[in-house]
Amino acid sequence: MRPFGGAKKRIGLVPTMGALHDGHMALVRNSKAQNDLTVVTIFVNPTQFNTTEDLNNYPKSLDDDLALLGSAGVDIVFVPEVEEMYPHSAKVSIHFSGLDEILEGKYRPGHFSGVALIVAKLFHLVLPDTAYFGQKDLQQVSVIKQLVADLHFDVEIITVPSVREKDGLALSSRNRRLSASERAEAVILYQILAFAKTELLDGASWFDIKVKATSIISQNNLVRIEYLELVNCQDFTLASEVDSEIPQAICVAAYVGEIRLIDNVLLT
Ligand code: PAJ
Repeated sequence: MRPFGGAKKRIGLVPTMGALHDGHMALVRNSKAQNDLTVVTIFVNPTQFNTTEDLNNYPKSLDDDLALLGSAGVDIVFVPEVEEMYPHSAKVSIHFSGLDEILEGKYRPGHFSGVALIVAKLFHLVLPDTAYFGQKDLQQVSVIKQLVADLHFDVEIITVPSVREKDGLALSSRNRRLSASERAEAVILYQILAFAKTELLDGASWFDIKVKATSIISQNNLVRIEYLELVNCQDFTLASEVDSEIPQAICVAAYVGEIRLIDNVLLT
């Protein structure tokens, strides 16, 4: 059964946590171009946060978000309350054997279980034909694709390239919480990724690049790196060298002041 009545309209879903920026809007534009109806959800999902502090500090700008989505011609915006999405605390817990134990999974235990739970609920409620996710959260895309494959969701997953500021910093709702000096330094994440990619494609060893890059970042007082890894995109396993036969990416996570940011670049 399809919601929204008789005619079989193509439904595109863009799940978000609000505090919208042009990265989110790129997903919206893709959905608008490829579907009859676009549904955007705004829900700061408590089960994917590791600390209540992070959850409570997550930026919110609902009025601005609704105005932005209205002017973009979005058909439906779904802004549920926590009690609607979690009428009781969920007993079901989704795991991804391995995929949720490295990189983001390692530093944010339980994060991807929370993401999978809310996305599965949204898929059931909205019944989209297509759902849009950003390359910015590359491991999240892998997790969602695994969820869709393992649970037979009839949803096509589209990955939209990362939208960046002019200096290269990937747009993120969390950027709003950076001070002016932190914002200026945050660009180092992208610079390190660009440096590592160039060196790798020039034939330098990943080990040497990682040592060099980590030492460059450690000279910056405001930035504390959590990981810098070369990964195979399909299964999100760590790689130690370039394999031109498969898609690979370089992923980074770092604290800039108190704010944790992630970014990645594809190798090909
Ligand atoms: P949120 O961080 O709000 O991001 C919503 C979507 O926007 C995600 O698919 C994310 O990858 C994408 N996005 C964020 N910044 C982007 C950028 N600079 N360029 C392109 N796309 C970008 O990711 C989540 O929310 C949540 O985990 C969610 C999937 C909604 C589940 O709660």
